[in-house]
Amino acid sequence: MLGLSQVEDPSMRAQPSSAMEKKGAGAAGRPPPVTEPASTVPWWKRTTVYQVYPRSFADGNGDGVGDIAGILGRLDYLRWLGVETIWLSPFYESPQADFGYDISDHFAIAPEYGSLADAACLIREIHARGMKVVFDMVLNHTSAAHPWFVASRLSREDPKRDWYIWRPGRGSRGQHPPNNWKSMLGGSGWHRDEATGDWYWASFLPFQPDLNYRNPAVKAQMLDVVRHWLEEGVDGLRLDIFNAIFKDASFCDNPFSFRAVPSEHNPHGFFQRNQHTIDHPDTLAFARELRAVVDGIEGPPRFLVGEVFGDADMLRRYCGAKADGLHLVFLFKTLGMRFSGRGVRAVIAEFERAFPEPFSPTYVFGNHDRPRFIHRLDLHHEKAKLLAMLQLTVRGVPFIYYGEEIGMRHHEIPLHEGLDPVAARYRFVPRWLVGFLRTRGILLNRDECRLPMRWDDGPNAGFAPATAQPWLPVPAESPSLNVAAQQGDPASLLSCYRGLLALRREIPALHCGALDLREDSALPAAVVAYRRTCAGETVDVFLNFGGREVELDLAEHAGRALYSNRTGEVEAAVARRTLGAYEGVVLFDRR
Ligand code: GLC
Repeated sequence: MLGLSQVEDPSMRAQPSSAMEKKGAGAAGRPPPVTEPASTVPWWKRTTVYQVYPRSFADGNGDGVGDIAGILGRLDYLRWLGVETIWLSPFYESPQADFGYDISDHFAIAPEYGSLADAACLIREIHARGMKVVFDMVLNHTSAAHPWFVASRLSREDPKRDWYIWRPGRGSRGQHPPNNWKSMLGGSGWHRDEATGDWYWASFLPFQPDLNYRNPAVKAQMLDVVRHWLEEGVDGLRLDIFNAIFKDASFCDNPFSFRAVPSEHNPHGFFQRNQHTIDHPDTLAFARELRAVVDGIEGPPRFLVGEVFGDADMLRRYCGAKADGLHLVFLFKTLGMRFSGRGVRAVIAEFERAFPEPFSPTYVFGNHDRPRFIHRLDLHHEKAKLLAMLQLTVRGVPFIYYGEEIGMRHHEIPLHEGLDPVAARYRFVPRWLVGFLRTRGILLNRDECRLPMRWDDGPNAGFAPATAQPWLPVPAESPSLNVAAQQGDPASLLSCYRGLLALRREIPALHCGALDLREDSALPAAVVAYRRTCAGETVDVFLNFGGREVELDLAEHAGRALYSNRTGEVEAAVARRTLGAYEGVVLFDRR
């Protein structure tokens, strides 16, 4: 019998994995199963992913910067929480101008995070706890400090010249950029280099020059990087701005567009259609090539999840017509989703239509680039619990950003104080506009959503020793906004996440069943309802996105178990006739 109301060891530093394993698989009060359940559905479709931003997660050596030692010290917490896969933002060698998304050696670890031995230990320790590990992979560009680029910019004749995208400028003295292409942040993506007077292309920031994938040596080298980490035991890769890999070889101007600001579902903007720079057919073909490489690696299946932008139909193309491309792509439409029955139904319906089996949608409510979603929920933990229930009971792979499980907030940090290079780029933007854009899901100072994880109510919120100066501020917060406070409280947001993660792990219909969205006019408009089915097992979910109690006759479910996000407990469903404000229930049959 599922006993989801039990809360086991409230200590975040739970027992070592071996002791936990001996206790066996169980519900919320017990650790997750270590052995994989027999299933024909690949693990990456059944899993739940938790994103760790290493710099901000836990500081193991007291220098104020999160590191691998810090993460190692918190693995038992993640296992206790019940997430199954950990995605780590980059910690490779890098000048840290974009905090790791500017790699200068793909085979080394930046010293402030640890060493290669630490990375190997991290992979091992994650596996020892029955979890999987995903590394971030920046294929599109390197740091300008990468020895390849340092050589490339020396002269037109350098053997590394063609590893990047160089063009002569226009105008009599080559003083104008080669064409009108804009970077993803606006402004020309071409940068003139003194040494030769030529221009190099950078899709993102000027210190992140794009690699030239039309050069077979570059492609071969980067595929080696991919193979290397997967052979080191990494279970999957998150592919940074994958939509930009190939640029059109004609170097023709991009056409004009009326769109000013790019968005999650339409990456065109700054008054042009990025026809020659984004979503190039060669990039789609490369997705399939990469898949074949990854599938060819010995050992358990690995997976690729792409950071790409556009509408759901466009994004599906990255997964290949025969599901032979990227395994998953982030679907960011959820970031702008309206918290209403109608808004949520529309998103589920669109994802189901565009990602039918064997494809799988993803459900994302935050990452290291976006405002914290809890603000869209008016910082309301009951709403956050409902959202968690949606994310963990719907069909698709959930991605949880660190701190979401305790309701971590972002905090305003003026652009001129920002360490984020994007903040520096937009430092001229007035504060009111920064605030407005934040409400629209655009963060000009990404420091705001990367604040240190809040482990307890002590100095530096337990992120770093009291004597350390954390790399980003640790603002004062309510004493309950941290892991330690919420761990012992069965009514907390954290306990809700943990209960839902256990429920999802234990009920096959939740982690791999089909989804049937109910479009039933008899249901109150605020209620989203769906049925998950798998091998004869059915689970019904009812989510009330309204702020008022609604009538809902669950008599037909009499005898089934009911899990509510309000109580975090399993109860008999017989007597239910209402759903409270922001209440969600999952109805299932006890086995
Ligand atoms: C992606 C990353 C972001 C980074 C950028 C350039 O969007 O998520 O953090 O700055 O790519 O690599």
